[in-house]
Amino acid sequence: MPKNESEITIEIGNLPGISARSDALKSYTGEDGEVATPVPGGKLHRCIAVSFCLLCILQAALNISLRLALSFQQNSLTEEREELKRQLNDYAFQQNSLTEEREELKRQLNDYASQQNSLTRERDELKRKLNDFANYAQQGWVYFSDSFYYISSIKKTWQGSRDDCLHRGADLIIINSKEEQVFTRQFEKIMWIGLTDRETEARWEWVDRTLLTTSFWYPGEPNNYIGRNEDCVETWYYNDDNSWNDVVCENQNFWICEKKMAL
Ligand code: BGC
Ligand code: CA
Repeated sequence: MPKNESEITIEIGNLPGISARSDALKSYTGEDGEVATPVPGGKLHRCIAVSFCLLCILQAALNISLRLALSFQQNSLTEEREELKRQLNDYAFQQNSLTEEREELKRQLNDYASQQNSLTRERDELKRKLNDFANYAQQGWVYFSDSFYYISSIKKTWQGSRDDCLHRGADLIIINSKEEQVFTRQFEKIMWIGLTDRETEARWEWVDRTLLTTSFWYPGEPNNYIGRNEDCVETWYYNDDNSWNDVVCENQNFWICEKKMAL
């Protein structure tokens, strides 16, 4: 009867020079011939496989970590960008607001400068007026209802009187209200006034070339008394409300000048 394989192997193992191989085979096969323990090369392979698996896991873990880190970084950058955008918008809004404010302040500054110019002009004008008032008052002029009046202390012809007024920057008085008429009577003087018909007989004209409208002739005047050429007017009847009289222009009289000067 032929022996089974395991029996044959044992017999071969007994042969000189083949014992080592036989030992090795023993460790590989059981009594029934099946594989029992791995050879040293298989261990290495398993080791390599396990290492490879570990490396793969490590690689996967690394990939996931990197992805997570990148994703986190990207989120962080996106948030930062959004925040910067918001800040930029805020700055742009603030800048617009400041620009508008600056324009408004410029406008206000211009207004103030314009007001200041206007006030400076007004102040200078008032200074000039005050100076004029002081000068006229100092020279004995009397102020009444927006005019200064000068009453002479010497006598002259009508034209001589007028020339004196013109020399003083004024002219003979023009009476154009009841109040002004009353004003002239308080001096109780026969004075020339700025009324004449020298150019055209009976056409009474004031020194500013306006025609006579409101008059204060004494009853019976003007009369060119006894055929005289009475072309100039005086306050002959100063005791009466209506004090005017026409008289020869070459007569010598006091006179009253008027200088309009509204405040
Ligand atoms: C008359 C005036 C006249 C004057 C002349 C007076 O008596 O009433 O009309 O002008 O004399 O001096
Ligand atoms: Ca007369």
